[in-house]
Amino acid sequence: VIDIRKLYASTGKFTFDPGFMSTGACESAITYIDGAKGELLYRGYAIEDLARHCDYLDVCHLLLKGELPTPEEKADFDYVVTHHTMVHEQMVRFFSGFRRDAHPMSVLVACVGALAAFYHDSLDITQAEHRHVASIRLISKMPTLVAMAYKYSQGQPFAYPRNKLSYAANFMHQMFSTPCDEYVPNEVLVRALDRILILHADHEQNASTSTVRLAGSSGANPFACIAAGIATLWGPAHGGANEAALVMLEDLLAQGGVEKIGEFIKKVKDKESGVKLMGFGHRVYKNYDPRAKLMQETCAEVLQELGLGNDPLFKLAMALEKIALEDDYFVSRKLYPNVDFYSGIVQRAMGIPTSMFTCIFALARTVGWIAQWSEMLGDPDQKIGRPRQLYIGQTRRPITTPSTKT
Ligand code: ACO
Repeated sequence: VIDIRKLYASTGKFTFDPGFMSTGACESAITYIDGAKGELLYRGYAIEDLARHCDYLDVCHLLLKGELPTPEEKADFDYVVTHHTMVHEQMVRFFSGFRRDAHPMSVLVACVGALAAFYHDSLDITQAEHRHVASIRLISKMPTLVAMAYKYSQGQPFAYPRNKLSYAANFMHQMFSTPCDEYVPNEVLVRALDRILILHADHEQNASTSTVRLAGSSGANPFACIAAGIATLWGPAHGGANEAALVMLEDLLAQGGVEKIGEFIKKVKDKESGVKLMGFGHRVYKNYDPRAKLMQETCAEVLQELGLGNDPLFKLAMALEKIALEDDYFVSRKLYPNVDFYSGIVQRAMGIPTSMFTCIFALARTVGWIAQWSEMLGDPDQKIGRPRQLYIGQTRRPITTPSTKT
């Protein structure tokens, strides 16, 4: 019998690293994370500064082009993005094939992939103009598609984009306006959404971004690559965690809230239970996720604005965080709140249903995926991504079953 492990070892060229715990797959100049310090920079700017001084389209410009825009560049960029917000009218009919109770993420994966069937003039990745137009189309149309997925699930007519509104306000208009009632943007809520988008805009080589790069490495069109990223983001260990964190908090509240935290933590620590503290822990951050701090701040602002300063879910989340951060299980494993711990509470307070949380994450992350995809295509040494495996199956053998034809 051949010992496959020895065979691989003897080639001297094989790294076995399940989950890519210590494998760098690319060079990148976009996002920097210092997990030990809890630091996150986009193109060298601290996430705290960007969240406080910029809007989401400033950050999109920064991620895509490497620099924050000058006022003239910003005006141009805003104009271009807002003039691609409509989707092809035939998309409306495409929607009617879905069940109304479909998860909006399943609808989003399909619709973003289907953009390739509508926009043939932005599929040729060898042409800079095609790549540019596809990038703008994706950033512009994501809010429209996400809001359409929501409206469809509600059985309501779609609300067309309002190009005079800001990116975040336009999205809220498309989510919440009805033919009977025009949504009047609330500045605090619009700013909160804008901040949510900024905080989720990029996060270097996470699972969905790596998927986008891997898909793009084969030369696949940009819409297909972003659809692959959306599909990956959907998982509860990744973008689905904000939905899972909110469900966890709501369950805990229903069972007795703060009183029951001790019991719940005990269950989390029991590996047999399979229960995790959702919104806690991160592959890279071994310190407080800086986005979680900003999200907690935003959460407090939104609740205050809505007169929900005593929101029991927010209080429960803060109590749970405090108890977990004093518990040796979490301390020894360096498990801190991540961006998802508070984001569900903010979005829920803003009237966004739980099933839409991951779609909003996808909307925000689209620019990061595109920036990473463009960076990869611009690398002259770029190769198709093709991981190896450690084969642990049968060695070569003859067919000996009676049904074998001779
Ligand atoms: N609750 C309880 N225990 C945890 C948690 C958690 N949330 N996260 C990690 N642990 C434990 C693991 O069981 C493991 O314990 P062990 O050493 O006794 O076996 C140890 O901490 C290390 O955890 P890993 O799973 O090895 O860490 P990894 O880097 O692979 O996973 C992940 C990171 C997936 C984020 C994990 O912490 C997790 O599942 N968290 C909950 C889901 C979540 O919040 N995801 C959002 C991530 S951020 C984002 O995608 C935007």
